[in-house]
Amino acid sequence: MKSFAALCALVALLPSVSAQAQQWAQCGGIGWSGATTCVSGSVCTKQNDYYSQCIPGTAPPPATTANPPATSQPGTPTTAPSSAPTAAPTGGSPAASNPFVGVTPYLSPYYANEIAAAASAISDATLKTKAASIANVPTFTWLDSVSKIPDLGTDLAAAKKLQDSTGQKQVVQIVVYDLPDRDCAAKASNGEFSIANNGQANYENYIDQIVAEIKKVPDVRVIAVIEPDSLANLVTNLNVQKCANAQTTYLACVNYALKQLSAVGVYMYMDAGHAGWLGWPANLGPAAQLFASVFKNAGSSPFVKGLATNVANYNALSAASPDPITQGNANYDEIHYINALAPQLQSQGFPATFVVDQGRAGQQNLRQQWGDWCNIKGAGFGTRPTTNTGSQFIDSIVWVKPGGESDGTSNSSSPRFDSTCSLSDAAQPAPEAGTWFQAYFETLVSKANPPL
Ligand code: BGC
Repeated sequence: MKSFAALCALVALLPSVSAQAQQWAQCGGIGWSGATTCVSGSVCTKQNDYYSQCIPGTAPPPATTANPPATSQPGTPTTAPSSAPTAAPTGGSPAASNPFVGVTPYLSPYYANEIAAAASAISDATLKTKAASIANVPTFTWLDSVSKIPDLGTDLAAAKKLQDSTGQKQVVQIVVYDLPDRDCAAKASNGEFSIANNGQANYENYIDQIVAEIKKVPDVRVIAVIEPDSLANLVTNLNVQKCANAQTTYLACVNYALKQLSAVGVYMYMDAGHAGWLGWPANLGPAAQLFASVFKNAGSSPFVKGLATNVANYNALSAASPDPITQGNANYDEIHYINALAPQLQSQGFPATFVVDQGRAGQQNLRQQWGDWCNIKGAGFGTRPTTNTGSQFIDSIVWVKPGGESDGTSNSSSPRFDSTCSLSDAAQPAPEAGTWFQAYFETLVSKANPPL
């Protein structure tokens, strides 16, 4: 794979526009001046405004726009939901139940397509089979722009069909991820909305569109992780101007999301960073205070189940021994972090339970610094999603980050380049956040633990 990756890098650097980009290489996006067509057998596919990529396959019929451009539609909020849930989930009191129990996760066709394309590009038969098997592991679907919302509608309708034909209740797992001034302490995942340009109204409209899709299919369960990194940034990164400036808007937008999604019966887990972030003893108290107040300000909704930890990160749930980089923090893995945080939340009136992302946590002791988060070299797929968590506080081990999608680009000339993505423990060359990173995916497969 090394020579393949080097070839992609070389192609990406060539100034000529006449050359064709290799499979998986960049072929367009804001600021891109390289090749805009792909070698035969792959199609230049827009991933986001910053990145188009050569994806294996043939061109779709011209009429289909599989990936319409992101549009920001200033908010004329549609109907405000009534305070009574329009779609009370089944299974009794939501607060007392684990929403992952008794439901089958609906497998995202978006991720399944990524996996199928990735597996088809692998020649080693054993690795190919293992790679293809990842399509059966439930992973969350990130609604990282308004343009992805129609996919939610499609997924819900398909899940409903499956539910009706099998009699097995389905759950669609999503990540709500489109705050204005998103990713305020980093650059790799900056989003489509800005606070200065109608961001809050645009965000409310984004939430309204999600709610509208859910209302159409009220009896499929939806579980959502809410806005990775956002509230954690408000705990520790208010010294960053962009985060300080975003504070009131983040709180207003998250409050809006929690209330509107509660009203349609979505079970939610607010993102709470990870052990190496809010798990430091000095951060636990302020974190508990913030999450409890956000919970209460959203009416202490029983649909706000709790918190999501380790989203897109690499920490073990329960490490065999502390990674040396965690030195100084007794909460050296996610279980220690959760055990420390949960009672503090409880005592402040938030009876939170947790989900923990283990999608890329199969290998440990890989990083130079605990704060490194970008495409960590040598990572492997981790424990498969299960409700058998061994902890009263944890509802489910989950895979939130779709393994194989990049954390951020290593291309220093990209507007979203974050220097973390060119550190020595970051795999390179890496494409834009959220887009497919074939070499990285293949390592995740080969280093999976438990093995595939
Ligand atoms: C990116 C999103 C993407 C998500 C999942 C984030 O880092 O910013 O665009 O959907 O990762 O891959």
